[in-house]
Amino acid sequence: MRVLAKLENARWLDRIGDAVRRAVLATVGKGRVGETLHGQPIGHPAHPAIVQFPVGAWMSAAMLDLLPGTEHAATALLVAGTAGTLPAVVTGAADFGTLSREQRRVALVHAAANTAAVGLFTASIVARLRGDHRRGRALSFAGVGVAGAGAYLGGHLAFAQAAGVNHAAAALPRVPLEWSAVDSVDSFTDGKVGTRAFGDTTVLVYRENGRFSVMVAECAHRGGPLADGRTIDVDGQTCVQCPWHGSVFALADGHAVHGPAGSDQVLLRTRVRDGLLEAARP
Ligand code: FES
Repeated sequence: MRVLAKLENARWLDRIGDAVRRAVLATVGKGRVGETLHGQPIGHPAHPAIVQFPVGAWMSAAMLDLLPGTEHAATALLVAGTAGTLPAVVTGAADFGTLSREQRRVALVHAAANTAAVGLFTASIVARLRGDHRRGRALSFAGVGVAGAGAYLGGHLAFAQAAGVNHAAAALPRVPLEWSAVDSVDSFTDGKVGTRAFGDTTVLVYRENGRFSVMVAECAHRGGPLADGRTIDVDGQTCVQCPWHGSVFALADGHAVHGPAGSDQVLLRTRVRDGLLEAARP
C-alpha cells in the first residue's frame, strides 16, 4: 500500500499522463464515440467487463499449459486473448480521459503493465508457432504474472480510487429510506430547478407540468455540485450541466445525456401528500 500511495502521488508522471489524456480526447475519448466507449449506453464503464475476455483466455491457456497434449488449444486461446485486447485498450483509453490526475498516475502504470503482458503473450505465440513450446510456456507464465500486476492496479483504480464509480449512488445511504417531506409543493416553480437539504445530503428538485423529479445533487461522475450547474436545453429536454467537467443530465429522468459521467443520475421516489412533496430512497 505504501508503494501505491507513492504511485498516486508521483507528480513526475503527470507530463506523460496529461499528454496521453490530450491524445485520447483528440481521438477516441470525446463526444458520442467517447461516451459510448466509456459505457454510457450500458450505464457503467465497459472496460472492466471487456477485459474479462483476454484475461480469461490467457488464464485458461496457462491452465492448459500445465496439462500434457494441449499445446494447440493453449496457442489458440493465447491468440484469441491477445487479439481480444483491442476493445479492452480502446475502452480503457476512453476511460483514461475521464480520470483525475491521481487516478491517471495509477492508470498509466496499469496500462504499461498490460502492454508488457501483451508483448510477452505475443512473444509466446511466436515461440509456439515456431515449435518451441517450452519457451512459449515460460513466456506465457511471465505474461500471466505481469497481467496480474496490471489487474491489481486496475482493482486499485476501481475500488480504492473510485474510478468509474457512480458517486451519486454512493450518496444514496444519506437519503431517508422512508417517505419524508422535501418541501411544500407550492415552493417549487414549474420548469425551474430548486435545491433542498434532504436527509444528510442535498437534493435537486425539478418540477414540470406538476410532476417532480428529485435527484441527489452530487454528480454521478465525481461528485460535483450539480446544484451549482446551469440548466440547458438539449433536444427539447431540460437538463442540468455539472460545473466540474460538463456532464449533462436530463432533469425529467436523470438520464446522462452527455459524459464524462458514464452513469445516470439516481432519481428518488416521489409523491405528493397534503400539499407536501415527499421523497424516499429508491
Ligand atoms: S463531477 Fe465530473 S462531470 Fe460532474
